[in-house]
Amino acid sequence: MSSPENPALSNLLHETRRFEPPAALAAGANVKAEAYEQASADRLAFWEEQARRLEWGQEWDQTLEWNPPFAKWFVGGKLNVSVNCLDRHVAAGRGDKIALLWEGEPGDTREITYAELLKEVSKTANALTELGVQAGDRVMIYLPMIPEAVIAFLACARIGAPHSVVFGGFSADSLRNRINDAAAKVVITADGGYRRGKPSGLKANVDEAITDTSIETVLVVRRTNQEVDWTEGRDHWWHDVVDHQPETHQPEMFDAEHPLFILYTSGTTAKPKGILHTSGGYLTQASYTHHAVFDHKPETDIYWCAADVGWVTGHSYIVYGPLSNGATEVIYEGTPDTPHQGRFWEIIQKYGVTILYTAPTTIRTFMKWGQDIPAKYDLSTLRVLGSVGEPINPEAWIWYRDNVGHGNAPIVDTWWQTETGAIMISPLPGVTSTKPGSAQRALPGISADVVDDTGKPVGNGGGGYLVLTEPWPAMLRTIWGDDERFKDTYWSRFHDQGYYFAGDGAKKDEDGDLWLLGRVDDVMNISGHRISTTEVESALVSHPKVAEAAVVGATDPTTGQAIVAFVILRGNAGEGSDELVAELRNHVAKEIGPIAKPRQILVVPELPKTRSGKIMRRLLRDVAENRQMGDVTTLADPTVMNLIRDGVDTGA
Ligand code: WTA
Repeated sequence: MSSPENPALSNLLHETRRFEPPAALAAGANVKAEAYEQASADRLAFWEEQARRLEWGQEWDQTLEWNPPFAKWFVGGKLNVSVNCLDRHVAAGRGDKIALLWEGEPGDTREITYAELLKEVSKTANALTELGVQAGDRVMIYLPMIPEAVIAFLACARIGAPHSVVFGGFSADSLRNRINDAAAKVVITADGGYRRGKPSGLKANVDEAITDTSIETVLVVRRTNQEVDWTEGRDHWWHDVVDHQPETHQPEMFDAEHPLFILYTSGTTAKPKGILHTSGGYLTQASYTHHAVFDHKPETDIYWCAADVGWVTGHSYIVYGPLSNGATEVIYEGTPDTPHQGRFWEIIQKYGVTILYTAPTTIRTFMKWGQDIPAKYDLSTLRVLGSVGEPINPEAWIWYRDNVGHGNAPIVDTWWQTETGAIMISPLPGVTSTKPGSAQRALPGISADVVDDTGKPVGNGGGGYLVLTEPWPAMLRTIWGDDERFKDTYWSRFHDQGYYFAGDGAKKDEDGDLWLLGRVDDVMNISGHRISTTEVESALVSHPKVAEAAVVGATDPTTGQAIVAFVILRGNAGEGSDELVAELRNHVAKEIGPIAKPRQILVVPELPKTRSGKIMRRLLRDVAENRQMGDVTTLADPTVMNLIRDGVDTGA
């Protein structure tokens, strides 16, 4: 891979500042430097030890069965994931400990103890069983950030029904595609949720999504009291079917490889991939990494992961990681600027949050709003700060440390993916001397490297592709229903070496620390959310006025990347106008969801293509980022770029 195109990323490689862990934190850290040596001496024994942090109904016979690229971990072992998150804490006398400190956007609150959460999950498990859900049936979850979301996850896990959560910001069409792919039976949703001060609807999207699908039952939580349409026999209010259920539920032990969830994520084609995660290995790594990377102490910490449960971060670090570790955690329903831009800091002050996990895009938004806002609040309880979802630029890293972490809380920049299930590369807060902008090194028990095109390690000082060189417990097991795509996407690129291809570019500095440089495929990262260029292109061309579309991710100071679309209109569509551009942006929002709305749509007369017809996005990125144009010699028609440039300059 050539040097990064993005100047901010080149700067990153000249970063030389170092920050040692605070002495007290280092002395009392959950995980010390020895863990690296211990894990490299015997990787499988290391993971067995971490698996023993959980409660098993039956021990495994074999730690890893590896038929590349198909892995089975803790073979023969049995466990119940929800028992690990609930029953065992209650049985150990911690039933009165608060599990969830929930804060609704309008300011309503709920505190739920472990004993209460177990009761709610048991009732919901009983209700799902009554509605005909059996182990193995897929259940869709399309909910706002309310306690019922966590309850729904754990109830599904309890009865062995894999859940597939769809982010509430996704459209009816996106929900329908996922329902069809998963062949799900039930959708759990709500009338709506609160976002930016007003109720937004969800049930209406479900009604639209499920016609002519396999969905038989819709379970609806009442949150906003909005008017909703109702189909008798199919739709059930949560309070009608859950509230009267018995408060206990006898859990069954499931195989370590029993499917726990399918989570859809964008790939390089228009069709999202259903990433399949199973139970024992996934929970082992989600639980261990939450314990190690955040130095989480259940007796004293108040933990807050500010992601949405619709993303993998919410799965692993709102639900399974923290609850398996008996955490007390904050869950916030709404946006950081509702009703005011100090909302996050107000919540941290109110609950005495000690660990905060959020995304670079959010940090850059706070930077834009100004340091005066966090300065008004008492943030002195914070002791570990996490970052996830995209590369964090050194400027945002330092701002986070200075203005949120009062200049001494360690920052853990955690690299991982929906596919990896849990954190893979990150500093350890009590061990690592941190470098602003570097995720640094693979965690104990994880093997990562940077290789060139031929799969050869680049060594210190080199750049190339990030690969994972050994199987790990929380790895995806396959793409739901599509083993071939699983092999092609992740394992064909470095087939000879047997490496997992992550799709990210990376550099290794002279110390061997890793600097992640963003995607190397046609996947964009918008505010930490993965969206494929093809997905947006196919949404655009589904509009009757669009003949062709090409989409690129352009560098954006706040969202990391922003979507810029180039469209060719159909002959009868007239001229490109502001109204038409607005119509196309809304069309994409309707097809995929508001997060996929292009920042910019440029109407152009032609698109740059190679002789084999492949769109050269690299050149479009040059235009979108106002850069000198790169090499055009491989274009079928090199003059096309002049036409595009001229068109863009005159605002056509
Ligand atoms: C990117 C989110 C740099 C990366 C957990 C990856 C990161 C994709 C980081 C996965 C990080 C995530 N530094 N890049 N700390 N964390 N990424 O599946 O490109 O939504 O491949 O999982 O986000 O996104 P996903």
